[in-house]
Amino acid sequence: MGIEDILLHDETIFRNINAFNPDYMPENYNFRDTQMEAMAISIRPALKEGRPVNSVILGACATGKTTAIKKVFEMVEKTSDKIYCCYVNCQLHTTRFGIFSQIHKKIFGHQPPETGVPFSRIYEKIMKKLSDDNKALLVAFDDVDYLFQNQNANKIFYDILRAYEEFPGVRSGVFAILSDFEFRFALDKNVNTVFIPHEVVFQPYSRPEILSILTDRAKSGFYEGVISDDILEEITDATLDSGDLRVGIDLLRVCGNIAEANASRTIEQDHLDEALAQNVSLNLAGAIDSLNDIEKSLLKLIAEKDDIYNAGDLSEAFLEKEDVSYATFNRTLEKLEFLRLIDTKLTGKGVRGNSRQIILRFDPEDVNKCIL
Ligand SMILES: Nc1ncnc2c1ncn2[C@@H]1O[C@H](COP(=O)(O)OP(=O)(O)OP(=O)(O)O)[C@@H](O)[C@H]1O
Ligand SMILES: [Mg+2]
Repeated sequence: MGIEDILLHDETIFRNINAFNPDYMPENYNFRDTQMEAMAISIRPALKEGRPVNSVILGACATGKTTAIKKVFEMVEKTSDKIYCCYVNCQLHTTRFGIFSQIHKKIFGHQPPETGVPFSRIYEKIMKKLSDDNKALLVAFDDVDYLFQNQNANKIFYDILRAYEEFPGVRSGVFAILSDFEFRFALDKNVNTVFIPHEVVFQPYSRPEILSILTDRAKSGFYEGVISDDILEEITDATLDSGDLRVGIDLLRVCGNIAEANASRTIEQDHLDEALAQNVSLNLAGAIDSLNDIEKSLLKLIAEKDDIYNAGDLSEAFLEKEDVSYATFNRTLEKLEFLRLIDTKLTGKGVRGNSRQIILRFDPEDVNKCIL
């Protein structure tokens, strides 16, 4: 195919290529009714002169939290004009001003000026409006752990939750959304007195649920007959292995692109194999990127060895190479295992875990390429 053919070629296997975008709102949103009902129950008091119930929304990555909250907010705003539901993405907004700008935008339709107006004035304007209109305010902090990297996070919670002290009658609440279970406790410690939340848990999807979601997504994104049940089953397995639904959605898109690049009207096994290989190298590069120098050094040592290390020999070689303690070696090894870069296997011989075999889960050549 020449370049012109490629550009003019309008035959495609994609019915809607946007169906595989990260911000796509699925038409069918199943398996989350319980969680969405729980959120609605927390919101309901605010529709009847009460306050929304503060909630923590907890679940591993890609379990549908962001999608659910957006759907619920949309439904609330359609049914009632008694409440402002403000969604804040804390990966984008972490400062006090930044967050109240978002709230201002929700209420007044535009952001306040960036300079010249003191924070207190913006705050008062918002609270006064809530009180004049007798409307409640619910702020959803998505990925709230990012917010707590900022020293002011507590203050921001207080600003919202204690507004009624300064502005009698103001009814406000917070939804905190997070995927890091450890952070759950940090949250309690940081804002415990004003923030006693109701908990909504998003448990991981089961295999049949993943298959159903991916099948639906393929139906929205591809024309009929483009993808077979067998390929969908295999993508479901890969998704389950990775523990991340986004991997599955991404594999659908990449498979489609590879099929098109090969001028195929259907997605074939070869295309999936190629997509899976791309995915592995992406995951590997990402994991290695997150390592510090000591961790990289240990991984490099493992990758350089022709045969398999046992833990005893590896620790000896590593302590010679780097000026660290045995405890550090062990911790570093654990981290590599946690990131699924290596496996360790007990052989039953030797002492103190030194007989464990250290098995690299990737091609050593790929690892070396990523470390450089
Ligand atoms: N029940 C579902 N039905 C259809 N698609 C879903 C479902 N749950 C999640 N998805 C899709 O999976 C992807 C991740 O969902 P979402 O962003 O809502 O997860 P999340 O829990 O907010 O993840 P994170 O913790 O990483 O922010 C999105 O593309 C979303 O459309
Ligand atoms: Mg999210």
